[in-house]
Amino acid sequence: MRGLFGPVQLRKAEGAGMKHDVSAFISPEFLIRSAIEVWEMAGAAALRHQVFVREQGIFAHHDRDQIDQIALPLVAISTLAADPAEVVGTVRIHEAEPGVWWGSRLAVAEPYRRVGRLGAELIRLAVGTANGRGCTEFHAHVQMQNVPLFRRLHWHLVEEVTLHGVPHAHMLASLPHYPAIADAATGWMARARRG
Ligand SMILES: CC(C)(COP(=O)(O)OP(=O)(O)OC[C@H]1O[C@@H](n2cnc3c(N)ncnc32)[C@H](O)[C@@H]1OP(=O)(O)O)[C@@H](O)C(=O)NCCC(=O)NCCS
Repeated sequence: MRGLFGPVQLRKAEGAGMKHDVSAFISPEFLIRSAIEVWEMAGAAALRHQVFVREQGIFAHHDRDQIDQIALPLVAISTLAADPAEVVGTVRIHEAEPGVWWGSRLAVAEPYRRVGRLGAELIRLAVGTANGRGCTEFHAHVQMQNVPLFRRLHWHLVEEVTLHGVPHAHMLASLPHYPAIADAATGWMARARRG
């Protein structure tokens, strides 16, 4: 069951003498794991488009690139009545050379930001999964406004760079803080802080 309600805009029921605004619905539980189903991969692609093309305008038309051909997409999936409902967070990881992994295209749907620690959980899955596959270095180009988030999650700054015309921080994860995850497809459940 998915897409029944969408993340925020539930129907406003207006009847005789009755007004229900249920637009504040936020899924209380999330699956954190690799994308398995076709709709999950499509959901991750749609979320990336929403965030990096429409919201941030970093890319004019689309954000796909050659890394997508080899990357493992990871997702945070909202649930509805315990069923997977909608992709509300994503990141991708790939091994650029033996042992050297990169994470990129981290995005959480706007209504779900700072709700379920989804960004932090996706980063944990990303680095832990790479760690379980022989990672010796885990890199990311982080938008400057997110550097404090990554620092708190045990990443350190390597250098500042400009990518797609936008300032980024090249950062490295501290691997001992990310225990190896053997099976990204199983993942785990995360709970919202509210809802
Ligand atoms: C960056 C992003 C993925 C973070 O996702 P999120 O789910 O909101 O982050 P979390 O809830 O996991 O945050 C974890 C902690 O970091 C904090 N935090 C989140 N974003 C932060 C920021 N930009 N600066 C400082 N702290 C931040 C949260 O408050 C939370 O702290 P707490 O656990 O003490 O409450 C999300 O804001 C997003 O998609 N932004 C737009 C796209 C983007 O910038 N992508 C990243 C490219 S590098």
